[in-house]
Order: sequence, then C-alpha cells, then structure tokens
Amino acid sequence: MGVADDAIKGCDRMRVQDLGAIDDPILVFGGPYSNLQATEAVLEQARKRSAYVICTGDVVAYCGRPADTVAAIRAAGCPVVAGNCEIQLAAGASDCGCGFEKGSSCDLLSVRWFRFADDQISSDDRDWMRALPDIVTFSHCGARYGVIHGGVTDVARFLWSTSPADVFELECQALEAIVGPVDHVIAGHSGIPFRRAVGRGEWINAGVVGMPPHDGNADTAFAVLTSGQLSLHRLTYDVGGAIADMEAAGLTQGYHKALRSGYWPSEDVLPPDLRSSLAKG
Ligand SMILES: [Fe+2]
Repeated sequence: MGVADDAIKGCDRMRVQDLGAIDDPILVFGGPYSNLQATEAVLEQARKRSAYVICTGDVVAYCGRPADTVAAIRAAGCPVVAGNCEIQLAAGASDCGCGFEKGSSCDLLSVRWFRFADDQISSDDRDWMRALPDIVTFSHCGARYGVIHGGVTDVARFLWSTSPADVFELECQALEAIVGPVDHVIAGHSGIPFRRAVGRGEWINAGVVGMPPHDGNADTAFAVLTSGQLSLHRLTYDVGGAIADMEAAGLTQGYHKALRSGYWPSEDVLPPDLRSSLAKG
C-alpha cells in the first residue's frame, strides 16, 4: 500500500450529500466566520442572482455574531460542508482544530474567539453542526463537482495556489475513492480564492466571506457557477457593523482590524511566497 493509499484509508467513513443535477446558477461561499453582516450580504447576492447556495463551512470563527450567523445560515437552508470549526464545536473540543503551529499568531489569536463562540452556540446548533456532510456533490451543465472544506485526507489541510501538484493529486484521489469520478473540486478553509488546473478539471477555492483574502482590500470573496462557467467575485458588505460587533464582544486581538485593512494579523500561516505576493497587492 502506497502513501496515497495510507492517506485515503479511513476516508470512507465520511458523510456525503449528493444534490443531484443543478443547472441553475450556483453561488458557493465559505467561511461566514461569525460575520453576520457578510453572511447576510452574500445571501442577498444569491437572491439577486436567483442562485442555489452552497457553503464550504466554518460558519463560526473570528467575528462577533456566532449564534446569529448560524441562525442566518440555517434559515437559508443551504447545504453546508462541515468545517473544522463545526466539527470541533460539535465535539465539545477546546480549540478550532486548524492545526496551527504552537505559538503561531493564529494559534494564539484563535483562543479568544473560539471560547467566545463556544459560549454562544446552543446545543441545538451543535446538533445541526454534527449532522453536516463532509462532502457535497452535484452535477452542473454536464460536469460533476465535489465540494469539501480543506482537504479530504484532513478537513483542516491548507491548500494554497502554490501548493505542490502531488498534494492536489492526492486529495483528488481521496475524493474520487469516496464519491467516484469528479471533474472539479470546490474547497474553502484556507481563506484565499484561487483556481488551479488538476486532473480533468480545476481545483477551485471559492474563498471566504467572513474575512478578506489578505490583499489589502476589505471586500471578501465568493464564487458563482453560471451555465458551466465559474467566476470569482468580491463581496462588499457592512464592514463597520462587523467590527462594532467584534469590539462589543471583546474580540479585539487583531482580526477586527483585518476586516478593514484587508490584511490578516496571522500571515505566518501562509507559505512564504504567498505572503510577499499578496502583501504587494
Ligand atoms: Fe477551516
């Protein structure tokens, strides 16, 4: 058994939700991150486009309105892939499960918001999180898509636009071992949207709506599939309201400033080549 087989072993216990064929427009977004204002704005974008909605997970994270954001997503009734934040909160864990290096800025900064979210989330919300699928599949205009959070072999795996080709290959193999052939993969988790050619199609990171993609622009990101064509978009929303909610919650460790500046306080999670290219804008 090779490395890939070892990594794939155990993935068969993952929960899959198949949505069937959807040829209408589909809006895909990740990382609401307890940012109610951004969540409401992206759902409004979906309504304007009469689009089906899919969320790649991490409904709850850095920002100030965890319970209200979960309520907004649940009210929307869209399929949601379980993010590491949902998995950890549902399990009653003590951290977000991102696997940040001990002592990294993300490790230190996540303590406060995770505790806050853990205090705010109801047992009913945890039950909802526990029931979320690990993978969502659908067909759109003749192509089959698999939607995941981070990676298949690890929900909190960070895949970047610059990650090695064999990492993408391994994750695609793991996905197809569970759900059968797919043309394209849509993921979230790492917070920066990108498209990269893999196998028969593309690996698409749809970005996150709750935190800007570390490029000096406060607008966040989402993706839209229309008539088989994928496009990445920026989301303008009430940034001031989201910051005020973080300040009211005492979440002033640095991510509240990132909502306005467009730069994360935790750049050390990024691979070095990506840090400099994004910082240059
Ligand atoms: Fe995540």
